[in-house]
Amino acid sequence: ARPRIVVTREIPEAAREVLHAAGDVWWPQPDRMLPTEELHAAVAGADAVVSTLQDRIDGAFADAAGPQLKVVSTVAVGYDNADVPALTDRGIVFTNTPGVLTDATADLAFGLLLSVTRRLGEGERLLRSRTPWSFHLGFMLGSGLQGKTLGIVGLGQIGQAMARRALAFGMEIVYSGRRRADAAVERELRARYVPFPELLAGSDVVSLHCPLTPETRHLIDADALATMKPSAYLVNTTRGPVVDEGALADALARGVIAGAGLDVFEKEPEVHPGLLELDNVALAPHLGSATVETRTEMALLAARNAVAVLTGAEPLTPVKGR
Ligand code: GLV
Ligand code: GLV
Repeated sequence: ARPRIVVTREIPEAAREVLHAAGDVWWPQPDRMLPTEELHAAVAGADAVVSTLQDRIDGAFADAAGPQLKVVSTVAVGYDNADVPALTDRGIVFTNTPGVLTDATADLAFGLLLSVTRRLGEGERLLRSRTPWSFHLGFMLGSGLQGKTLGIVGLGQIGQAMARRALAFGMEIVYSGRRRADAAVERELRARYVPFPELLAGSDVVSLHCPLTPETRHLIDADALATMKPSAYLVNTTRGPVVDEGALADALARGVIAGAGLDVFEKEPEVHPGLLELDNVALAPHLGSATVETRTEMALLAARNAVAVLTGAEPLTPVKGR
């Protein structure tokens, strides 16, 4: 029998063609997010599942699919939604899509940084509200970046791409994280490894590029925000729960820090109502990897990972389970 391949959200045609060559492909039509019960019913009997960050991939998911399930291939770099050891224990390969979304995500992070420091959203809201305005020398002043310090939390691929952009804007780079980067990377980026509290206290912009793990959940809480400079900005393009959103809304409202640029939220698609009231926050609806080119590359890589496992080859980008 041809393998049964379940795709949990619609993916670009080019990636579906890769899958069609290897098996019978099913995906929800029209495209929609499947609630857990429907997801479990949909994956029953699947040999491969191509999933997204919205799907809870755990032991119950694997059991609902059945013992023939060989691979779960997620179209994302982050995989906090997946219990990878639970899959590994069942002999199921899990893969993600690192690399192909690095530049798109760093572009969006830098865009949010510019948006909040130069008050672009606020300016656009002013114009669209048809409020009278006129140019004057003190009008809507923002904060420049040249000579300022960018603190990068997690100098992985996306963190490094963010650092490269910041260097081009004349910023200085410090970073913290579980691991120190290679000396060659530190040299290229002129990046200094500092303890996390020092990064918070010394940075003009703090940008989060660590994965969401039990250790990084609410890494940015009220205490961390109080450690930052009142003139500092926070940028989050990784996962919402790395930041205590209520504490951030409160800190922004009270001027504990100057502003924030956010692409991700604790309870997506909800956004803390306090954030929506504030002008000093730039908001985007999880658009980090959302370019035509990048989403195509991500889906192709995910499809190739699934097909590799189905045909007995090595997956291109497996995640190690234990
Ligand atoms: C997106 O958020 C991803 O992890 O790819
Ligand atoms: C982050 O947490 C890293 O070391 O990459």
